[in-house]
Amino acid sequence: MFAPEKADDRAPRSALIQILQMAYSGERAAAFAYQGHRRSVRCAEQKRAIQKIEADEWEHRRDLGVMLEQLDAKPVWWREIQMAVIGRTVAIGCFLIGWFFPMYLAGQLESNNIDEYDVAAEHADALDLQDLVRDLRVMAATERDHETYFATMVVEHPWLPFANAVFRWHPELRLQQRNSAAGPPSVRLARSLDAANVAAIAKQAC
Ligand SMILES: [Fe+2]
Ligand SMILES: [Fe+2]
Repeated sequence: MFAPEKADDRAPRSALIQILQMAYSGERAAAFAYQGHRRSVRCAEQKRAIQKIEADEWEHRRDLGVMLEQLDAKPVWWREIQMAVIGRTVAIGCFLIGWFFPMYLAGQLESNNIDEYDVAAEHADALDLQDLVRDLRVMAATERDHETYFATMVVEHPWLPFANAVFRWHPELRLQQRNSAAGPPSVRLARSLDAANVAAIAKQAC
């Protein structure tokens, strides 16, 4: 399926594999964490939204597994165990730290995931693996929707200034950037409204 490997391809190829391996296990941690997060919220609409996000993370993990196979690589076993433990621990933590912080920290995690898939797409582009570039860009877009959802949930919360100062993820700025980013305005607005609307409905319903 892919062009023969050249000597110049080794650095981006190993960088790409490393990101995909980390992301593969990271998606497992995220999915486990969202299982706990979903159970910890009371609102049915929020439960539904988080369940959908969890399903997206499992789908990402499946897609990443296929990509690794295509690159003749395997998941890293110790990272699998580490991320499973972290995911389960975070899931329990969601019951202990209230409503706001799981929402806020999930948004920060999603923000990091966008960057991770964009960087992976750049490496895939350097290797001229255009199928992977397309799929990784779609995955980054899904993570952006997840970030928008959590950003919309917490953006008016009174604890936001404190969280911003400590954790350095700024949902209000991310929502602004989202609406002013380059790209076709109709698509941009539609995607932004989609995730934001789900959050608005969840807020109203709870
Ligand atoms: Fe994901
Ligand atoms: Fe996500």
